[in-house]
Amino acid sequence: MTNLFDLTGKKAIVTGGTRGLGKSMAEGLMEAGATVVIFGTSDKVHDVAKSFCDKGLDCKGLKVDLAKADQRKAAFEKAVEMLGGLDIIINAAGIQRRYESPNFPMEDWNDVIEVNLTAPFDLSQMAAREFLKKDVPYGKIINIASMLSFFGGQTVPAYAASKGGVAQFTKAMCNELASKGININAIAPGYMDTDMNTALTDPENPRFKTITDRIPAGRWGTGADMKGTAIFLASAASDYLNGAVIPVDGGYLVK
Ligand SMILES: NC(=O)c1ccc[n+]([C@@H]2O[C@H](COP(=O)([O-])OP(=O)(O)OC[C@H]3O[C@@H](n4cnc5c(N)ncnc54)[C@H](O)[C@@H]3O)[C@@H](O)[C@H]2O)c1
Repeated sequence: MTNLFDLTGKKAIVTGGTRGLGKSMAEGLMEAGATVVIFGTSDKVHDVAKSFCDKGLDCKGLKVDLAKADQRKAAFEKAVEMLGGLDIIINAAGIQRRYESPNFPMEDWNDVIEVNLTAPFDLSQMAAREFLKKDVPYGKIINIASMLSFFGGQTVPAYAASKGGVAQFTKAMCNELASKGININAIAPGYMDTDMNTALTDPENPRFKTITDRIPAGRWGTGADMKGTAIFLASAASDYLNGAVIPVDGGYLVK
């Protein structure tokens, strides 16, 4: 039987691939057979790529600041050249800033919107153009949304706006690309125990217990929890899935 989830020979970019959810999803794609270029902000990206290669996986690293449009374009073009094409992109890089809304600094608003919304849209456009160049257009765009694509959260208005935008441009691009062999979908992780959330996972923070109590699965998520859905969305198994925003949240949304 054909393995619908096999990614052998597929070429992928994963932004934010040096740690947290992006790193785990990159690993998942490689374990399913893909070659991956991970993007990271520092030279550490090469150490992370090497650590994957040491495990027998096929990984290369590229240093890029995704807040800079010229660097985004150059890194995308370089990655496609390194891979010899492109089949999959996961837009996982993201940042968080916390201030009460009335005093939320505009500089932080702009930083969050640039990295979390503008960069994924820009890279999705570049990926779509690359996929459309193929004799038979084909490709998978996977965006990382959030619970805050669905509700507003507390003290994170820029993040909520950016992740609402990610869900919406995923649907908007889907309407134009689904008939052209390109799948664009998003994963909405729930509350995940990563570096981004150290302010919330501090047991002294009263929100730690409130959030944990609302997760039907009874625990915060991990990078490993993201692998299956990432492989599914990157593979032929999801060829008829378009414009979806899939919660991977231990049931948080439905409680
Ligand atoms: N942790 C959660 O609970 C959670 C929940 C929902 C969504 N998410 C989303 O998942 C994604 C990954 O989050 P995480 O929890 O792994 O966070 P993380 O902070 O551990 O990792 C974020 C990654 O983004 C990269 N990045 C940040 N700014 C960048 C820039 N300017 N240029 C290039 N790379 C940059 C970092 O280098 C890092 O690799 C983000 O989009 C985040 O918004 C996380």
